[in-house]
Amino acid sequence: MPDIWGTTRLVGVIGWPVRHSFSPPMQNAALAAMGLDWAYVPFAVAPDDLPAALAGLRAAGLVGFNATIPHKQALLGLVDHPTAEAQLTGTVNTVHFTPDGIVGDSTDGPGFVAALAADGCQVAGRRVVVLGAGGSARAVSVSLVRAGAERLVVANRTAARADELCELLNERVRAGSAEAMALDSSRLETTLAAADLIVNTTSVGMYPEMDAAPVTLPALAAGAWLVDIIYNPAETQLMRAAAERGASCRNGVSMLAYQGALALARWTGQEPPAELMRSVLSAELARRSA
Ligand code: ATR
Repeated sequence: MPDIWGTTRLVGVIGWPVRHSFSPPMQNAALAAMGLDWAYVPFAVAPDDLPAALAGLRAAGLVGFNATIPHKQALLGLVDHPTAEAQLTGTVNTVHFTPDGIVGDSTDGPGFVAALAADGCQVAGRRVVVLGAGGSARAVSVSLVRAGAERLVVANRTAARADELCELLNERVRAGSAEAMALDSSRLETTLAAADLIVNTTSVGMYPEMDAAPVTLPALAAGAWLVDIIYNPAETQLMRAAAERGASCRNGVSMLAYQGALALARWTGQEPPAELMRSVLSAELARRSA
């Protein structure tokens, strides 16, 4: 628990509900390790109260805040300066109150790429398959293509959503970067077999349906990586299958830790202890699921 003084600077997270957020313990541990007189607080903000909360948090002198469900889309229309990532994903998860106005950023995708880099997985020039085409897939795919992924295949149960995401990537990020495929096509099987990086952004395999997997994996390329953005359970059925086929596997903890680290870097102007944040998060997840 941080000491709170009259000098303490505040950041926080808004959500509805917000009680399940893992960000407060992770961010407060990081702020303490950085030796800052700052604290990170949760705020339960109902959807209709978002504009009032934004004005109120600014008036109360917060440095900024994170946003989680259901506020990420609505915030985009309320900030003065959305970053490229925020505009491309249509979401804001990090707000920064600055003298020049309210900056809105989306650190989910950049956090995903930063976590990969920290683990030694290069993205530039690589062939990627993203399973799913929802909000998480959009954030991850935009950042992967911006980071130089050579070819990105989006495979989704609902074909229209995969088409829509590929259109965004090809028209607004890099022409010719993305292609949609059906989840059950034989072309996807050969694409998976040749992929350098496979990312699951679907909810398939998440607690409590832990025996399910979004695809059956073929034999994988040497040196392949698989990231499942699920973090409960810590090892999904898909991760187990990929590990059996020799892939390096990660769950969603790293993305969560690094999106938080990038927000903290923006607010403080300092380098946050991202690895500490990752270990606090893992411990907290293990504690809550025990
Ligand atoms: P998020 O913001 O976390 O990405 P979302 O936008 O609801 O959440 O997206 C969920 C993703 O999981 C979608 O790609 C969804 O596929 P559809 O677009 O076809 O709905 C995918 N998904 C959820 N349940 C699924 C299932 N049983 N089989 C395959 N895909 C599933």
